[in-house]
Amino acid sequence: MHSYPVFEGNSQAFSIQEIPSCSPIGVFDSGVGGLTVLRQVYQQLPNESVIYFGDTAHLPYGIRSQKEILGYVREILNWMEQQGVKMVIMACNTSSALTLETVRLEYKFPILGMISPATKFAVNVGKRIGVIATPATAKSNAYRQAIMELKVNVQVWQVSCPEFVPLIEQNRLHDPYTLAVAKSYLEPLLAQEIDTLIYGCTHYPLLEPIIKTLIPNHIHLVDPAVHVVRVCQRELEILNIKNRLLPMPTRFVVSGSPQQFSQSGTPWLGYTPLVEQFSVPYSLR
Ligand code: DGL
Repeated sequence: MHSYPVFEGNSQAFSIQEIPSCSPIGVFDSGVGGLTVLRQVYQQLPNESVIYFGDTAHLPYGIRSQKEILGYVREILNWMEQQGVKMVIMACNTSSALTLETVRLEYKFPILGMISPATKFAVNVGKRIGVIATPATAKSNAYRQAIMELKVNVQVWQVSCPEFVPLIEQNRLHDPYTLAVAKSYLEPLLAQEIDTLIYGCTHYPLLEPIIKTLIPNHIHLVDPAVHVVRVCQRELEILNIKNRLLPMPTRFVVSGSPQQFSQSGTPWLGYTPLVEQFSVPYSLR
């Protein structure tokens, strides 16, 4: 039996006839963080076509209000709906924490979030769980709540890491300043002797090389990208909408600078993506 939940998303609301299997999967984030999810899609679902949206004009999401983020997320989902996506992975913990439950009721395609798949895995490997996240995700308490809902005997500590996303978007991954910042964020978690660390923001696995130098080897690192894509695979199977044709090349669309996204994304993708500019509707300017 598989260890991952089925119907993690809102798939039960959809009938097979409504969703053509050759349609793309939509993946979105505020910036390059969602590329950690896209890489998992390439590994686990190599036959699927993907449309990736980076809302770089509005990042970081982690310091914004729920109302603002909900506005951006609806705009992205409306656009994805127009592109005919068959499923969406909200490759952003902040919007998963603050908007997922609301928008799932508003769209006719399944929407998967980052938090639930990761927590279900984490409680199987650890008892003292640390979560590093954006200020908005940490403040929302979404990880603690998701873990508590599983009714397991586990302790959770969440740390807000406001400086990580801007440093990652600026490609300062190997900067000594980034290392010092990472050390200061991890110290309180290490003081609690955590046995598991969840990357509560899709940008953070990009810092794994430095994070690994700062924590003991026995700590389990949980990358939610791995787990959300497993759930996605399962849901495509349940709905019988896995792509059976040749996949299309990934389409990248951003609301900010295509050049900057292309530059920051290249090392993570292993190729230089062709990036389109999204014109921001007047309502969001
Ligand atoms: N990568 C996103 C997340 O997982 C958003 C980070 C941000 O824009 O602050 O939360």
